[in-house]
Amino acid sequence: MTDSKRNILVTSALPYANGPIHLGHLVEYIQTDIWVRFQQQRGHQCIYVCADDAHGTPIMLKADQLGTSPEALIDQVSQEHQRDFAGFMVNFDNYYSTHSEENRHFASQIYTALRDAGHIERKTITQAYDPVKEMFLPDRFVKGDCPKCGAVDQYGDSCEKCGATYSPVELKNAYSAVSGAKPVERESEHYFFKLGNFEPFLRNWVDNHVQEHMIHKLNEWFESGLHNWDISRDAPYWGFEIPDAPGKYFYVWLDAPIGYMASFKNWCDKQGVDFNSYWGPDSDAELYHFIGKDIAYFHTLFWPAMLEGAGFRKPDGVFCHGFLTVDGQKMSKSRGTFIMAETYLDHLRPEYLRYYFAAKLGSGIDDIDLNLEDFRMRVNADLVNKVINIASRCAGFIKKLSGGQLAATLAKPELYQTAITAGEQIATCYEKREYSRAMREIMALADLANQYIDAAEPWVLAKQEGKAQQVIDCCSMGINLFRVIITYLAPVLPEVAEDARQFLNLDNLDWDSIQQPLLDHSINKFKPMMQRVEADQVNAMIADSKATLESNQPPAATPASAALAAEPLEDTIEFADFAKLDLRVVRIAKAEHVEGADKLLRLTLDLGGETRQVFAGIKSAYTPDQLEGKMTVMVANLAPRKMKFGVSEGMVLAAGPGGQDLWILQPDDGAQPGMRIK
Ligand code: MSP
Ligand code: ZN
Repeated sequence: MTDSKRNILVTSALPYANGPIHLGHLVEYIQTDIWVRFQQQRGHQCIYVCADDAHGTPIMLKADQLGTSPEALIDQVSQEHQRDFAGFMVNFDNYYSTHSEENRHFASQIYTALRDAGHIERKTITQAYDPVKEMFLPDRFVKGDCPKCGAVDQYGDSCEKCGATYSPVELKNAYSAVSGAKPVERESEHYFFKLGNFEPFLRNWVDNHVQEHMIHKLNEWFESGLHNWDISRDAPYWGFEIPDAPGKYFYVWLDAPIGYMASFKNWCDKQGVDFNSYWGPDSDAELYHFIGKDIAYFHTLFWPAMLEGAGFRKPDGVFCHGFLTVDGQKMSKSRGTFIMAETYLDHLRPEYLRYYFAAKLGSGIDDIDLNLEDFRMRVNADLVNKVINIASRCAGFIKKLSGGQLAATLAKPELYQTAITAGEQIATCYEKREYSRAMREIMALADLANQYIDAAEPWVLAKQEGKAQQVIDCCSMGINLFRVIITYLAPVLPEVAEDARQFLNLDNLDWDSIQQPLLDHSINKFKPMMQRVEADQVNAMIADSKATLESNQPPAATPASAALAAEPLEDTIEFADFAKLDLRVVRIAKAEHVEGADKLLRLTLDLGGETRQVFAGIKSAYTPDQLEGKMTVMVANLAPRKMKFGVSEGMVLAAGPGGQDLWILQPDDGAQPGMRIK
């Protein structure tokens, strides 16, 4: 039985208002939504709020780039986000924006309280300034050569090559990713939140409110010292002006978590609920934040410290999850695995993904992998072949033999009891966010139900004289087990559960309702509740994903657009990788057919004193005599490769789609064999 009624407020992180929702985001929103639905099903008051994170430089610049205003941009994105969340059945009680009056109010209130309590400090700092765009540049918008290793084109905060961290003013050959101009150094006064004041409080708080998997990370942070946090930005900035500091704005991360309060306040005002009954210092309501591990610092250190300093209650838990990979790798635009929510929904039912994520999610911070083949097989095997199958095997006989009326007694009460007892364990798993375990337990029950039906063989009995009651008894038992199982799955599969509720002719699928089996109860006509996932659908989604992203690519990646991209572009190489290539002008001294090879020619290349043998797949485009004496470019430091016909000691560069349309690049007249390409 469920415990006494709780009042719970739940949030997911506020997605940035400058890009679309993708399957990575959905790990979090689906994880949270399942938890919220579970709590509601258990009879608790559970409110789920979220909002768009609508402030900051990237949004300001993106609006600029699109020739629109930040307000118009965030409105548009908010609508798209809400459409996508609704598509995945993520059921917020309120979806708001950090660019709201409520948020301005709370941000000012919290800031003022912190200031008055001595937790804010002012300090003049030197920062990179773009003299063309006339703005201070966030670290990520300054690029240049790493001061430590010299790697070119590194961001202003850290080097992706050697891992060094530094300040943007240390970069060599620095340029602004916004305008391309050389940044200058400029001083300005900034406002800092003195996080160090909260160290004793935080050490204690963290121990009791953050999951074990994160504690290690937090200890590292404590060890390296809690630094003052710069919470102000100079104009022009897209955000809230600091009340006592004209021309200074709150840094986006200051008002972002306050957006949780603002969204909830907005809901309270619409519902006539007292905000303080949840957020006041003496509230006995529970508060939980679901977030990705990348934003733990903000939620486990800054945020509780801000709340403590300003006299508000703190969260009861911050639940971090890991990152999504697809087929074992980081989501990739070129592989088509950077899948937008919208693209997925064009091809596949949201509940497939909800179930798959549930089947993979634990309470820890491990990354979770969407393996597309496993996804299809798992959903088909578990949901279609196991769960829905129970109902579809039994419903027809009940309809036919008793007009839809279930038997008056349970054929196997102990089996029903087993299913009910398992509910305790399953509920505990949901509560602790051990969804994968919950799904395993539920599927084990579905196996038991199917084994029961297999053994009873109602389809055999139905053909025998005088066995009708036995068939009804057995199928009623099956339907009762189906009802228990679908009740357990309802947080994960809201639409299937709703269809099942109608089929079962029930008012609700509340967790406790299953204590009473359905006896002498009439059910409705069975309609298939879920189709199999077909490989074609998955393939079409990937193809569509590739196409969508290609058509959205800017014609040329300007520095500004590269820095504005919500995710770093993968599948590119660093300049340092490129610099490893030893490219040389070579003369094709000899070209020959290779016995038994239909694509290859054997080339003898003259590098100006040295010769190399290279096998090139260019036979479709050139005859040997067309090549001899011509100049081309080769990669001279490619490791020699043993091929069927001999060792290939390099590679020549050619361009074109292939077949006859293939051109060996020919340097201008005057190129000498052996010249290096710079
Ligand atoms: N705007 C901030 C959060 C502010 S909360 C006061 C932000 N936005 S985000 O759009 O980048 O991410 C929103 C949430 O989605 C974060 O919790 C983030 O960890 C999560 N994810 C974004 N990409 C993800 C994956 N690829 N995989 C799993 N979760 C991911 O951060
Ligand atoms: Zn470096």
